[in-house]
Amino acid sequence: MAYSVSKLTDYSAAALERASAELFSALGHEAAAVQSEADWKIFRDRWMARKNGILPQINDIWLKGAPKGAKREVGQHVNLIKERVEQAVAGAKVRYQIPTVPIAHAGSEISEVEFQRGALEKAGFVDITLPGVRRPIGAEHPVIKTMHEMVSVFQKLGYSVADGPVIETDYYNFEALNFPPNHPARDTQDTLFIAGQQGKPQRERLLLRTHTSPVQIRTMETMRPPIRIVIPGTVHRNDPPDASHSPMFHQIEGLAVDTNITFGDLKGTLDHAMKEFFGSSVKTSFRPSFFPFTEPSAEMFVSCFICGGSGKRGSDTCRPCKQTGWIEILGCGMVDPNVFEFVKDNGYDPKKVSGFAFGMGADRIALLKYGVDDIQLFFNGDVRFLEQWA
Ligand code: DAH
Repeated sequence: MAYSVSKLTDYSAAALERASAELFSALGHEAAAVQSEADWKIFRDRWMARKNGILPQINDIWLKGAPKGAKREVGQHVNLIKERVEQAVAGAKVRYQIPTVPIAHAGSEISEVEFQRGALEKAGFVDITLPGVRRPIGAEHPVIKTMHEMVSVFQKLGYSVADGPVIETDYYNFEALNFPPNHPARDTQDTLFIAGQQGKPQRERLLLRTHTSPVQIRTMETMRPPIRIVIPGTVHRNDPPDASHSPMFHQIEGLAVDTNITFGDLKGTLDHAMKEFFGSSVKTSFRPSFFPFTEPSAEMFVSCFICGGSGKRGSDTCRPCKQTGWIEILGCGMVDPNVFEFVKDNGYDPKKVSGFAFGMGADRIALLKYGVDDIQLFFNGDVRFLEQWA
């Protein structure tokens, strides 16, 4: 039977609650039955028409008929009813105007809310009663997190952060770093060249930088010594992807130039940085190596922070350090005087200044630190993998 307003005899809180609930239930059923503009008009008039609408009746019968002592309480209920009726009338209009939500949208909460919102906007309404769309906060990517942590270790030592372009010239990536044209050392970095550059002189040809070292030259061109910089960034090489290689990866470079910088400064700085980063119990070991832009050059190892340097994990062998107890972390050395020659005019006279440089792979450090066994997981964008750092 259709709802009609009846006189109140009992003005107690419980009775008012009951009467309101009965009204709300009728309101809800009637609103849900609205399917067309004609239905909606009938619905609106039945509830809101000045003459004989349910709302004015409530006002007349409930509020005006209430004894003095109950007026306040009844007034509050009537206000709430008025609000709900207005909402229901506006809501019913939106509902019959928007298409029914198709099954495809019914699955996930977000897509349904967004779908509804789109439809509401089309209909010229914004339903402020809908719950908000909660956007996931996200988390720092483990490689970026590793880079930030390593960079901040050096920032605490007074280093500033520098960066440079990922698309680089042959000059900065190779020539000014003492890789002469056609020198076999270039073969150690399988380079991705930008096509169609043959018309230019070799030093101007573009390529994807194979390391962050070119930023050493770019920074020395613009900043006079003394300098202390770290350079986090993306680099590319023509390496086919596998569990430990990716054609795109990340490096953190460092450069310190001043008067009287020695190999002792290099060792002391890097030893301190590794203890900060991996924990104070790690040791460092420097072994001779070759890079065209440093002389002498070294590879730096840290004692394995997984097995504590023993090469064993219980009765098993330690895989990350291949049982050696040491993990290679970076290349380093004293800046070759030939490199300073390229920036001599900006105060880098190799007879007056000296410096050290280092470069490390951030992805490999992140793999070790987080115990991930496939570098591809970092870059194939699977949110289920990345969420583990959220
Ligand atoms: N750029 C070198 C590479 O990608 C790493 C490196 C070695 C950087 C020694 C340096 C350095 O600054 O001094 O293989």
